[in-house]
Amino acid sequence: MTPSTHQPYVPNAVLDHEPYASVRELAGKDLLSLTQLSPVCVRELFTLAATIKSNRVAYSQHLTGKHAILIFEKASLRTRITFETGFNMLGAHAIYMDHSVQRLGEREAVKDYAKNLERWLHCIVARVYSQAIVEELAEHASVPVINALSEREHPCQGLADLMTLWEHAPDFRAHGKRLRIAYVGDGNNVAHSLMHAAALCGCDITVITPKKYEPLEAFVDETTNIAEATGSTLNVTNKLSAVEGHHAVYTDVWVSMGQADEAGKRLKVFSDYQIDADLMATASKGLASSWGPAKFMHCLPARRGVEVTDEVIDAPSSIVYAQAENRLHAQNALLAAILGSVNH
Ligand code: CP
Ligand code: NVA
Repeated sequence: MTPSTHQPYVPNAVLDHEPYASVRELAGKDLLSLTQLSPVCVRELFTLAATIKSNRVAYSQHLTGKHAILIFEKASLRTRITFETGFNMLGAHAIYMDHSVQRLGEREAVKDYAKNLERWLHCIVARVYSQAIVEELAEHASVPVINALSEREHPCQGLADLMTLWEHAPDFRAHGKRLRIAYVGDGNNVAHSLMHAAALCGCDITVITPKKYEPLEAFVDETTNIAEATGSTLNVTNKLSAVEGHHAVYTDVWVSMGQADEAGKRLKVFSDYQIDADLMATASKGLASSWGPAKFMHCLPARRGVEVTDEVIDAPSSIVYAQAENRLHAQNALLAAILGSVNH
């Protein structure tokens, strides 16, 4: 089966609400897209994540008695392990359901799926081929639904990414000083959520892609609106030279899950966009010496020697494993806020 990633997408009414003003407002809510969060809510989530990260014991009973399901239509290392570990760390229990053989909605209607699961469980985490499916689950389930990656968005990744920069940049954390992030590669799900997250945090983001692989217009518009409110900027371009002067350079695979049939074409189209030491040197031009060279970021899994060289991903300025670690902590903050009660 080669799942299509180009299904028609109609935004669902479940996303049609004002962004949550604070983490307290997240209680009992879904997290399908970072557009659901306000800048204040994101900062509070980072603070909560740092608290849980530094004091795991204090939160070990936070979700006692809660049960969750992780439904995965696609492969995963980080997302599966961090959600399973996270639910466990917070005192809850999670069941993993491998849904890679059959798409959601094939054996029974997504609505019936949701209506069954809500009778047994307190939370649904879903990794799906189609954003419309995770939104349909959320529409029909009375329990919170968390998007663990769709073909359009990867909100938990975006949160962990900005949390990682927040940890590495005391000025950004303490004074809200603007960071500049360059995303180089495919304008895909990870790029979309990174754009949202950067704008929510008041960071400037430059997205550099080959022609025809730019982020979708809806995400450019959403990010531009958020950026206007936070005083930051979004620049989308095909020019690699635009990478100059960025605190971090981010990339993702050129062939995402579900795009295997496009692999040959994509590898050719993206071949000039590999992140190598020269590109990182250009990115580092003009940065304050206190920052050091530009950080390298990647959601992982990486195709070493394809979108990034070994030299770059293994360099001291690469923060890819800190990002992976923070998937756990950022998600724990989300779970604590959505399924428990937090005092802010
Ligand atoms: N970054 C990320 O989501 O990794 P997995 O696909 O391994 O979960
Ligand atoms: N863009 C990649 C991200 C994997 C975490 C994919 O969708 O396969």
